[in-house]
Amino acid sequence: MKLWGGRFIKPTNELVDEYTASIQFDQKLAKYDIQGSLAHVEMLAACKIISEQDAAKIAEGLKVVAEKIESKQAELTKDHEDIHMNIEKLLIDEVGSVGGKLHTGRSRNDQVALDMRLYLREAIVGIAQKLVSLQQSLHQQAASNLDTVFPGYTHLQRAQPVLFAHHMMAYVFMFQRDMERLIDSWKRVNQSPLGAGALAGTTYPIDRHYVARKLNFEGICDNSLDAVSDRDFVVEFLSNASLLSTHLSRLCEELVQWSSIEFNFVELDDAFCTGSSMMPQKKNPDVAELVRGKTGRVYGNLMGMLTTLKGLPLAYNKDMQEDKEGMFDTVDTLKGALELFAPMIETMVVKKGVMYQAVANDYSNATDLADYLVDKGLPFREAHAVVGQVVLHCIHQNKYLLNMSIEELKVFSTLIEKDIYTVLSPKAVVNARDVVGGTAKTQVEAQLTKAEIILEENKTWITERMKQIELW
Ligand code: ARG
Repeated sequence: MKLWGGRFIKPTNELVDEYTASIQFDQKLAKYDIQGSLAHVEMLAACKIISEQDAAKIAEGLKVVAEKIESKQAELTKDHEDIHMNIEKLLIDEVGSVGGKLHTGRSRNDQVALDMRLYLREAIVGIAQKLVSLQQSLHQQAASNLDTVFPGYTHLQRAQPVLFAHHMMAYVFMFQRDMERLIDSWKRVNQSPLGAGALAGTTYPIDRHYVARKLNFEGICDNSLDAVSDRDFVVEFLSNASLLSTHLSRLCEELVQWSSIEFNFVELDDAFCTGSSMMPQKKNPDVAELVRGKTGRVYGNLMGMLTTLKGLPLAYNKDMQEDKEGMFDTVDTLKGALELFAPMIETMVVKKGVMYQAVANDYSNATDLADYLVDKGLPFREAHAVVGQVVLHCIHQNKYLLNMSIEELKVFSTLIEKDIYTVLSPKAVVNARDVVGGTAKTQVEAQLTKAEIILEENKTWITERMKQIELW
């Protein structure tokens, strides 16, 4: 007999049971479901809705059920549709009919919204932890490459030399905004929907704040319909995850390029690469490729959730059961990627010599020749044209600016003097960009210092939240 079977005279079609069940995937929520139930039952007793003795029996029973599920001793079945009803059934098996009092003043609708929020809280903290480790790895690579000059690109064409540290720090700050988005979303996730009942609230004299306090929520959802209807906190998480994945994926693309023979700027550690079954020489950056590839499913999960919600009338609709798999998948996908990424970046060998050769043998110092002429009084537009001519000449002669003799240079402009050779050296070019946020060494050092403070703040936030989600 189904827990809700009273009103039915026929059993459910087996295929319907199969089709509507969510136990295959929502068993991930078991721990949170039990945390929520423990808080709920304690509140029921505190509000004298059930007796202290009954509450104690139920709480004991719930703990036994938790252990049985944890150790895979409990049978979770489609006959009981979802994790909420499976747990209730296991509880009744454990403690007898008193277990049937647990669901007083509660619906699966507010219960599942609660479980989702509890799950997501923990997921956000877990992802934040891994994200800060990645930021640290990037910061560390930056610190070790404060003198490494390498080509900066626009349109994937050599543009101006930058410090490799500057490039690493760009990602540190991108990931910082991802971190801030996760942190900011916390206050919206961390609100208790319990007590909303099926949709309208409940007739029992419950204390919603009691439950919220027990579960370390910051507050309660103000409107019962909203509490059970919306999954905007899931959408927000999936959206934050998507942006984070975008950033990861761009870094992946760079690692794939940089580790190719054509670039040869970095070597990824053997431990993070794989070989080819056919071509013995291959060392493939599979992790970077796969993280880049999995960005597709992260975006897909966001689109899926948005589409599921679009057009749903208030309040709960069974459609909303579709909120789970995408969210779980995104959490697992991101955790998997971040976990590998931090050590992959940390162990990456930066080929400083190759990078330097690249900037020594290109035209990425051309802007600096133009700036030099401007300094000597030529309007920038004219200087630009002169240098364009010089570059064209060099290309025809198979030379770079620094290979030109002073006589050759003077043909293009008499303003050019011997000091040009120092001005155009890659290091000088980098250090000339001594503006806040620029690539000059002192400016990049300032970025590193600023980031150190920010990363400490991230860690403090994580430590505080870890305490908040530690329930029993
Ligand atoms: N398994 C359901 C879900 O995940 C739980 C809520 C079901 N509520 C209901 N009234 N059928 O959405």
